[in-house]
Amino acid sequence: MATINDNYLKLKAGYLFPEIGRRVNAFAESNPEAQIIRLGIGDVTEPLPQACRTAMIKAVEEMGDRHTFRGYGPEQGYVWLREKIATHDFQSRGCEIDASEVFISDGSKCDCGNILDIFGSDNSIAVTDPVYPVYVDTNVMAGHTGDANEVGEYGGLVYLPVTAENSFTAEIPTQKVDLIYLCFPNNPTGAIASKAHLQAWVDYAKTNGSIIFFDAAYEAFISDPDIPHSIYEIDGARECAIEFRSFSKNAGFTGTRCAFTVVPKTLTAKAADGSDVDLWKLWNRRQSTKFNGVSYIVQRGAEAVYSDEGQAQTQALVSFYMENARIIREQLSAAGLEVYGGVNAPYVWVKTPHALTSWEFFDKLLHTVNVVGTPGSGFGAAGEGYFRISAFNSRENVEEAMARITDKFSI
Ligand code: MLT
Repeated sequence: MATINDNYLKLKAGYLFPEIGRRVNAFAESNPEAQIIRLGIGDVTEPLPQACRTAMIKAVEEMGDRHTFRGYGPEQGYVWLREKIATHDFQSRGCEIDASEVFISDGSKCDCGNILDIFGSDNSIAVTDPVYPVYVDTNVMAGHTGDANEVGEYGGLVYLPVTAENSFTAEIPTQKVDLIYLCFPNNPTGAIASKAHLQAWVDYAKTNGSIIFFDAAYEAFISDPDIPHSIYEIDGARECAIEFRSFSKNAGFTGTRCAFTVVPKTLTAKAADGSDVDLWKLWNRRQSTKFNGVSYIVQRGAEAVYSDEGQAQTQALVSFYMENARIIREQLSAAGLEVYGGVNAPYVWVKTPHALTSWEFFDKLLHTVNVVGTPGSGFGAAGEGYFRISAFNSRENVEEAMARITDKFSI
């Protein structure tokens, strides 16, 4: 008789966003007249930049000609895209990242989970609370945790609470952990990390032989020139950090799918026999075996992000969403709500009014003003009493949603 991976049985009911989708669909079915505005999942709404579309159309034409047709591409991604990324996203900021250390993929979410393939099952793992649920759930699936308790915390994980008191940036742990997930600009709180804060993490990781998984999917939304965009802007990070990046949010690729992961060749971790093993080699082996690369057409689209035209168009997209974030932040603050984030990040983190729980506020918003957000408790126990509002939507919808919320929930 076949058996299952029992670790899946430890997972809480559903992944957060499908669960929200289920509740919203149930509401919509019984209230077909409701004009629902979705500010829940951080999914982009504005069209792909023209530069990316033009490049992809050209690539489609190439695929229609036997002289320019391409079959399997390199599993690591085409070198012309990797070089543009290394030059533009890293070397231009003083980071010593080489194109060969950049691995193109179909998403940061996938890479954040897949990276666990190359790590042992006995690592101690730290996550912030609240946290992007993928980091936790993929560790549960891999059998790296015990069961969840009544507030949804899994045994065996080290939770680092992030609260208004610590400006939503975790304290450096006092105990030793081997793998640390950091996400800046942060999903869900919209918090950012200073250079000094990241330096403290890198110093900790180097002292303890830990590896930092640095999720920088939202780096394009940073406008403050003092805030680092990459962990590799920090001294020593090449010896302790893997970085995840994405074209989803800056270039609107959530449906098109393209991202990348940086694994420096200077990174090592221990084998069971105590020897140091290059993580780059393991990740390269993993990708070459389990992945066949992102389509040529999509990689050409991603490459166009780095053209002058592509840069201007992606910057316009980012500015558009950040104007939405400003509207959300200012209107909710003016209505007396306690609001965080939304300045260098496309997420606004709101304290729920009248001591409502996160899900109570979710249901109230859905039922009274037909606006969908994301309950903070879905990101972890310390997110209880908070609510995330995404700036990814049309201007019209954001303005309408804010008018509805502030009308009913001013305090
Ligand atoms: C979110 O809403 O947190 C994001 O859209 C999730 C993701 O990027 O996978």
